[in-house]
Amino acid sequence: MKGLLELTHSTARKNELVLSSEVSERLDKVLLEQRQKSRLAQFGLSPRRKLLFTGSPGTGKTLSAAVLASELKLPLYTIVLDNLITRFMGETAAKLRLIFDHIKQTRAVYLFDEFDAIGTQRGATNDVGEIRRVLNSFLMFVEQDSSESILLAATNHPELLDKALYRRFDDIIQFEKPGQTQIKQLIENRLSAFETGRLSWDEITQAACGLSSADVTRACEDAAKEAVLHHDANITTEMIIKAVQRRQNGKH
Ligand SMILES: Nc1ncnc2c1ncn2[C@@H]1O[C@H](COP(=O)(O)OP(=O)(O)OP(=O)(O)O)[C@@H](O)[C@H]1O
Ligand SMILES: [Mg+2]
Repeated sequence: MKGLLELTHSTARKNELVLSSEVSERLDKVLLEQRQKSRLAQFGLSPRRKLLFTGSPGTGKTLSAAVLASELKLPLYTIVLDNLITRFMGETAAKLRLIFDHIKQTRAVYLFDEFDAIGTQRGATNDVGEIRRVLNSFLMFVEQDSSESILLAATNHPELLDKALYRRFDDIIQFEKPGQTQIKQLIENRLSAFETGRLSWDEITQAACGLSSADVTRACEDAAKEAVLHHDANITTEMIIKAVQRRQNGKH
């Protein structure tokens, strides 16, 4: 596939993901329908397999793709946008055709990640009209696809897409920034090697309010390193809040 598809063997598990119950239920539905696809087929039904993931950076879109692949024991192919988009629409369409041939031949999870990056990848394609044409051409391929693979498209900017084409997806999943409950869960997951029983969760979750899940995770790692290297592996509310505030201020 000459650099168009990147194969990853994901080991990410469902319990690593911290999501709202709504998003979590939607992903569970995909897993269930995929696992029961032959039962569905007996009744002329087909499982969900074309999904659009929307949401701001660091909310778990890419991680969810990895989890779906590993839970279904399927390979994960990520489409390398850099090599897909060319200055000439004709070439881009030809490359898309190659990718969709692969999708038909090899059942796997295919992630068209970070579509919003299309506009900034290359100077030459940096206009909205061109981005729209490429996106809509992709969505046309999605519509025509009748393979057994799982197609995931992830974007930070769903407003760029033609609304009419939304219907081509079996589900649109909106990833959100974590609320208080999810922030606590993310921190507990990340700091499972530490004693976290005495932390002041209200203070911590308040300080972390508005951060993405990715930022909360990174703040935990900073606090954990601080604890290990300077405090005999004792983690405190203050250390976590300090790390969280550093993320809030954008100082990494
Ligand atoms: N919902 C989540 N639950 C658990 N960890 C998360 C979650 N979201 C993000 N993370 C952590 O942050 C990292 C980056 O998240 P991910 O790449 O999935 O974000 P994304 O939504 O794809 O962002 P982008 O729009 O920038 O591509 C993950 O590998 C994980 O460590
Ligand atoms: Mg991503």
